[in-house]
Amino acid sequence: MSNYMTPEDIIIAPSILSADFAKLGEEVRAIDEAGCDWVHVDVMDGHFVPNLTFGPCVVEAIRPHTQKILDVHLMIAPADPYLEAFAKAGSDIITVHAEAGAHLDRSLQFIRSLGKKAGVSLNPSTPESVIEYVIDKVDLILVMTVNPGFGGQSFIESQCQKIRNIKKMIGDRPIHLEVDGGVNPDTVHMVAEAGANALVAGSGVFKGGQYAENIKTIRQGALAARG
Ligand code: DX5
Ligand code: ZN
Repeated sequence: MSNYMTPEDIIIAPSILSADFAKLGEEVRAIDEAGCDWVHVDVMDGHFVPNLTFGPCVVEAIRPHTQKILDVHLMIAPADPYLEAFAKAGSDIITVHAEAGAHLDRSLQFIRSLGKKAGVSLNPSTPESVIEYVIDKVDLILVMTVNPGFGGQSFIESQCQKIRNIKKMIGDRPIHLEVDGGVNPDTVHMVAEAGANALVAGSGVFKGGQYAENIKTIRQGALAARG
């Protein structure tokens, strides 16, 4: 897998939820050329979250436009029936929500059996204890710092404590700690300080069309906060 990077790296993952959907291929190439590390793809079903976005066909359509990691965030319930399709479409990381089904352990094992990196995501109200017994089956833990469904919402600061707690739980395991929602130059220091290394940003990257500059500013903010 190309450029998967390590939990020691700061990873900037622009969310294409904030892209111009009428020219998605071009937008993916633009963030790639602007220096992003991963491409974050927000899949919504209008059921688990109150919004609809894309399915596996769209992942397949954008796949040829970048060599970078496709970080696919499934906000769908159930997720299991679609995991194989998202794997075949070219996802590199597939993240399911802990709240999306009764059998998180099974979903994570299934993702790994498809040869993909397995992620688990927690809504703001979900305690970190839900990952205690699956932590050795995950490659990535995604802490939502907004209630999922839309871009451009305000950062929920209470999640910083959760990030700190999860960072401790991870210890020296090779697990990426990702944050998603309201991450921008004003908030990035909080999540980086708390221990997150993979930073999703939608409006923070696409705002104003200065993708390279926005990515650089967010990255610098994170690196500075890490010390
Ligand atoms: C929210 C999505 C996010 C969203 C982030 O449901 O999972 O990835 O695109 O957008 P911003 O960075 O604008 O909060
Ligand atoms: Zn997301």
